[in-house]
Amino acid sequence: MDKANSETSASQSSNDLRPVKVWDISIRVFHWSLALLIGFLWWSGTEGVEMENHVLAGYAVLALVSYRIIWGILGSYHARFTSFIRSPLSTLKAIPDVLSVRSDSHYTGHNPVGGWMVVALLLILLAQGISGLGTTDDIFIDGPLVEYLEEEMVALFSDWHTTLPDYLIALVLLHLAAVFYHDAVKRERLIRSMITGIKYTTVRDSSSELPVKRFLLVTGGLSLLGWWLLKDILV
Ligand code: HEM
Ligand code: HEM
Repeated sequence: MDKANSETSASQSSNDLRPVKVWDISIRVFHWSLALLIGFLWWSGTEGVEMENHVLAGYAVLALVSYRIIWGILGSYHARFTSFIRSPLSTLKAIPDVLSVRSDSHYTGHNPVGGWMVVALLLILLAQGISGLGTTDDIFIDGPLVEYLEEEMVALFSDWHTTLPDYLIALVLLHLAAVFYHDAVKRERLIRSMITGIKYTTVRDSSSELPVKRFLLVTGGLSLLGWWLLKDILV
């Protein structure tokens, strides 16, 4: 599916809207698990409670983000980075359209601005999760790398781990503001699409059904890697 086809004119009437499978089931499970885990991690981290579960939830976020990055290369059509990451210039040009009150449902997957937001969220989550591995609270809980790192490195990781959440929360709030703007003002039901996987669009676009064999290969490989990395820590 070429770009011109998936960013067609918005002038077509809403009667032309037809359903397209845009988010495969793995993207939807990834997304809602992530939202729940981040809520828990924020609460447990800032309150300093349930810290053993905080560490487990942190590993789960690292696993989810690793999956999403691999799925961004090997996954279903709309999950792939190449289907939604545009050059900085095209992204700048898309801003008026994305901000305008009228619907831009001619973007079947993420619009160009949303595409960069996805990259920013994934990178900050990755950085937050990795920094946790070298973080200590100096009392009960150490990340698994703390015993192998120099003291200054642990101080640096711990510093990042307590600073990055402010930026993470700012990005999440911006993400939510954008999603609700699309829903309430532009009348595009993005939240419903992230639940059902279906988007209504004027474009004849590729469907994003789950490629089952590839999914099993990727999750099987990641599970083996996770088991190998964590087997000594979790028993
Ligand atoms: C993306 C995943 C994660 C998020 C969003 C997150 C979030 C947070 C937050 C908000 C805090 C409180 C910071 C503060 O005191 O201001 C915290 C503390 C902490 N986190 Fe995480 N965390 C994540 C992953 C991890 C991982 C993977 C580990 C360890 C393996 C970990 C270990 C810790 C420790 C030990 C503290 C206590 C630090 C202190 O008291 O100074 N976190 N985390
Ligand atoms: C901590 C909370 C959250 C995080 C970290 C987060 C992160 C993300 C990420 C990474 C994506 C890209 C999905 C992908 O391509 O794999 C995304 C998309 C999306 N998120 Fe969230 N999200 C959070 C909370 C929420 C909440 C609470 C809602 C709804 C009320 C929501 C609604 C959406 C929607 C509708 C999309 C798809 C946007 C589009 O169609 O372009 N998110 N989110």
